[in-house]
Amino acid sequence: NIMHHVKGLNHLERKVKELLQCEEVVVVPGNSSEFEEIKENIGKAASDILLKHVRDDIIIALTGGSTVYNVVKSLNKTNASYKDVLVVPARGSLRNNVEYQANTIVSKLAKKLNADYELLNIPDNLSKKALDSVRKEPEIQETISNILQANIILFGIGNAYEMARRRNLSETVIDFLHRREAVAEALGYYFNKNGEIVYTSRSIGIKLEHMNKTPYPIAVAGGAKKAEAIIAVKNIIKNGSLIIDEFAANRIIEIM
Ligand code: G3H
Repeated sequence: NIMHHVKGLNHLERKVKELLQCEEVVVVPGNSSEFEEIKENIGKAASDILLKHVRDDIIIALTGGSTVYNVVKSLNKTNASYKDVLVVPARGSLRNNVEYQANTIVSKLAKKLNADYELLNIPDNLSKKALDSVRKEPEIQETISNILQANIILFGIGNAYEMARRRNLSETVIDFLHRREAVAEALGYYFNKNGEIVYTSRSIGIKLEHMNKTPYPIAVAGGAKKAEAIIAVKNIIKNGSLIIDEFAANRIIEIM
């Protein structure tokens, strides 16, 4: 019975919202760790929320990942035309599937919104020395300053080890993450279950301390497997929007 199901989802939304203190929580049916198609539902719901927050003169920053990819893919090219919207990646790109890289998704979103965009073509694991010199490039500095002024941050939440592997972090770092009991990754930071930062990837872009200032966070994640990670980043998403699936929601309620 569809009505019954919708009522059930509304109940989950209210409950998760109360637990995580978000401004808005949307729960879509299904389990995206089992069925990739569910990510499209998360994407659809999140793209509606994104559009609600877009207006003239704003900067939108976003991360890579398959879930954020689906948000931008689902977004209908808007008829509304906005003035002076800029889209930027939240951080330097990762060594990842090109399709899911922040830079790729940035250009896609900019096209759909008729907006401008800037890219950051920086590998995630540069040496500190190389990174410091890249950081001084005037063009990079300009982009970083735009990122730090972002009004909206759209990002994915991942499991710490899954993300560490995807980024080809060394076994030494992976051991370190185990010892520090990392559970979550978001915006290049790794968190333990209490939301404490246990490791930071060396890269350029958004700093966590900016997250509780200007930007409105829109976070997307699905699957029961991500529940612990979602809870761990609750301080970043509070006052923002969280779009998850039913399995993640049920598990969050179960373990919180
Ligand atoms: O930081 C986490 C990732 O963006 C999550 O990626 O949406 O492909 O699981 P995913």
